[in-house]
Amino acid sequence: MSKEKILEILMASNDYVSGQKLADELGVSRNTIWKHVRSLQQEGYGISSKTNAGYRLDQSTDRLSPSEILRLTGMNESQLVYFDEIGSTNNYLKEHHETLADHTVVLASHQTTGRGRFGRSFYSPETSGLYFSILYKGEHKPDPEYLTIAAALAVSDVMAGFGLQPMIKWVNDVYLDQRKVSGILTEGEVELESGSMKYLIVGIGLNVNNLEFPPELRSVAGSMKLSGGKDYDLNVVFDRLFRSLDHYSGQLVKTSRTEEEYRTSVQNILDRYNERLLFQGQLVTLSGGNREDLTGLLLGTDEQGHLKIQTAQGIQTAVYGEYQLTIPLNARRS
Ligand code: BTN
Repeated sequence: MSKEKILEILMASNDYVSGQKLADELGVSRNTIWKHVRSLQQEGYGISSKTNAGYRLDQSTDRLSPSEILRLTGMNESQLVYFDEIGSTNNYLKEHHETLADHTVVLASHQTTGRGRFGRSFYSPETSGLYFSILYKGEHKPDPEYLTIAAALAVSDVMAGFGLQPMIKWVNDVYLDQRKVSGILTEGEVELESGSMKYLIVGIGLNVNNLEFPPELRSVAGSMKLSGGKDYDLNVVFDRLFRSLDHYSGQLVKTSRTEEEYRTSVQNILDRYNERLLFQGQLVTLSGGNREDLTGLLLGTDEQGHLKIQTAQGIQTAVYGEYQLTIPLNARRS
């Protein structure tokens, strides 16, 4: 907490603040203050120090910084677990869900084995994206049925808030300019005795300032920067996303809402989700799961969030799978 308090004091002052004054306010030694300042500098803050004057904040950080995230979100220090590098934030929560508190956030600057749906990997390079997972456990967990949908809506709301035009590809991908920019992986464990969920994890990967992708992703992946033409502050994007996700996931907690409130919220989430559904009204082919491919017009989701497709045999509903345009855009005559 000391680091955040130092930041707060330096931000409130236009001039140097002495090491002694900081030490007195925080009740720690000047040496501890110096160590915290060094650590903040390593997180990218421009803090100058002057003999007999103290420390001055010249520039905030533009790197992913746990201190800045705690400051912006108002999260407790114990709620945020930050890694410069990790295998997968979802894996970390799976391994540690028993000891970590409800709503713990695991955030990494870089993942070495980021995972997506269908056993795919999620490209998670350093300094350009956001990779994080949130743990929900205990009595007041959001309804797993709509959690991925709510998370995709939260991501798309944040992009729209930056003036971008996101589309959602059912069920868990968010697109900009026909390219995938974000993916969501929701996981959990079912309690065998009750059949209810023991815990839930929502993992979100978001390409923010990426300009380059490996060859196999080059034609399909995008980023906020590639679409918006400018850099975005990772800490600010995280803050907005964290708040948006908190808002929607809170609406899905059945135990703290009346049945009517809950139903209204679900309908609102689904309506907004469907407004952004990619390829709605177009001819798509859905594959995956243990059924034949389905081809037909994409209608949207039903009230359970399942996908509805108007086929020659009537309306069919899918719980699982992935769709593509039946005739890809680049194969169409102009
Ligand atoms: C997908 O594209 O199918 C979902 C991608 C989900 C990626 C995020 S990044 C943070 C979290 N950790 C992971 O290993 N995966 C999710």
